[in-house]
Amino acid sequence: MNTSFTRKLGIAYPIVQAPMAGGPATPELAAAVSNAGGLGSLGAGYWPPAQIRDAIREVRRRTDRPFAVNLFVPERTGSTDDEISAMNAHLNAYRERLGIEPNPAIAAYAPSFEDQVQVLLDEKVPVFSFTFGIPPAETIQSMRRRGIVIVGTATTVEEGITLEAAGADAIVAQGSEAGGHRGTFLSEAADALIGTLALVPQLADRVSVPVIASGGIMDGRGLAASLALGASAVQMGTAFLASPESGAHAAHKRLVLSSAEDATAITDAYSGKAARGIRTDFMRDMRAYQGAIPDYPIQNALTKDIRQAAARADDPSLMSLWAGQGLRLATEQAAADIVKRTIAEAQAAIGKLSG
Ligand SMILES: Cc1cc2nc3c(=O)[nH]c(=O)nc-3n(C[C@H](O)[C@H](O)[C@H](O)COP(=O)(O)O)c2cc1C
Repeated sequence: MNTSFTRKLGIAYPIVQAPMAGGPATPELAAAVSNAGGLGSLGAGYWPPAQIRDAIREVRRRTDRPFAVNLFVPERTGSTDDEISAMNAHLNAYRERLGIEPNPAIAAYAPSFEDQVQVLLDEKVPVFSFTFGIPPAETIQSMRRRGIVIVGTATTVEEGITLEAAGADAIVAQGSEAGGHRGTFLSEAADALIGTLALVPQLADRVSVPVIASGGIMDGRGLAASLALGASAVQMGTAFLASPESGAHAAHKRLVLSSAEDATAITDAYSGKAARGIRTDFMRDMRAYQGAIPDYPIQNALTKDIRQAAARADDPSLMSLWAGQGLRLATEQAAADIVKRTIAEAQAAIGKLSG
């Protein structure tokens, strides 16, 4: 269990708890995983700077071990005002059904990435992880000057090579099984759905920094297999979603615990960006939408009031229920127990192979 990644970070086990923005990745979850010897992560992509600062301080109150903070690299959007108004008009039917105001005022589609980055620099977080692209060179340099470990996300070998050249210290290889948003940034998401089993060894052959396997890894068998494929760690999201420390909505946790491997699909209906989640009525209905779905983060901002009102009403049919394909293996164990069990199972699996 001693790998190039655990040595780089000075952690006991090669298990990263995936940064899960939108509620699940709480300071409690990140600290519990770090205290158990893995690397906990905050999913801070949607948070304004003050909330990121508070969450980092909360993690530090709970642990003195390393942890990661994850952000979304902004992209250019090409959506027109007409596309945005048409979508807003379409979404008003859902708002009416939920009893909320039509056409909500939206001050900003997403928080300022530069302001978010500044908090990570000020707080000198141990690890900066990111997805959806590559941050500007100055950001990478500022992180490096402060000794912050930089972890990028790749869904193809080409993206991994590009991330290494840009200065990433480790690369998450996000297979198509993965829950949540696709990190794809060099091609269309639909063209970059490479399974974890295929992606990890091909990427490990082409980069010299540690590769972190991600997507469908739920237990020690997945960890042992990932190490055999050339990964130096795994990043597990769905495995932690139903833990008591996860901030996922109760309905989301219930569905994670009761769904099977064929329950998910990839959709851009919620956010304008491809993401894997448990299928909902909203995803199905939106397939029939004739117009263009506005790009991320515009669509994400447009559906926010609907997702929030559905959550308040405990109505999962309109909520985003991000989850990966390993659903049958999800448990409601405490985060530290998931880490301990995964390590024990991996050791047993490796022992069985060599015995
Ligand atoms: C609910 C949820 C939210 C996610 N949010 C993020 C995020 O904010 N940033 C990120 O880099 N990855 C995010 N991911 C993707 C994970 O980093 C990881 O690739 C994925 O969880 C691995 O697949 P698994 O869920 O099968 O373990 C999210 C995944 C889930 C399930």
